[in-house]
Amino acid sequence: MKKVSIIYWSGTGNTEEMANLISNGAKENGSEVKSIPVGSAKIEDVVDADVLLLGSPSMGSEVIEESEMEPFVESIKDNVKDKVVGLFGSYDWGDGEWMRNWVERMNSYGAKVFEEGCIVNLSPEGEEADKCVDYGRRIVG
Ligand SMILES: Cc1cc2nc3c(=O)[nH]c(=O)nc-3n(C[C@H](O)[C@H](O)[C@H](O)COP(=O)(O)O)c2cc1C
Repeated sequence: MKKVSIIYWSGTGNTEEMANLISNGAKENGSEVKSIPVGSAKIEDVVDADVLLLGSPSMGSEVIEESEMEPFVESIKDNVKDKVVGLFGSYDWGDGEWMRNWVERMNSYGAKVFEEGCIVNLSPEGEEADKCVDYGRRIVG
């Protein structure tokens, strides 16, 4: 049984909805899933996880959220080498640049980022919701 930690920041709930959908997918095969807002996350939640998922919407100008998620990501850079890491988040008017940069950054820390991350325009509905469940299902598969 894999231990999965989902650590996210969400201002208006869209990325939180994605976290819930990804969690549902990851639980399907019996994985033990903890879903934690980044403000309550601890380094052990990263160290103990077989699979780590990090979520942030695109904020600022195509960056991850700067007051909580950015310092948290910086603080775990020595703890993700060879770890399977999923990245997800919601965006609005951009083209996903924040996610491309985040994938590159986590790979530069030695993480094994799963695919290109999972991004959704605003709230996950219909096929976009299914895409999130599927990302959670496949990352633990
Ligand atoms: C301060 C601020 C900056 C944002 N910057 C971007 C951006 O650079 N690119 C983009 O595509 N969306 C941007 N957005 C839109 C959010 O990514 C979008 O509303 C997202 O759904 C919010 O997710 P949440 O509900 O999890 O907070 C920004 C939103 C806010 C409030």
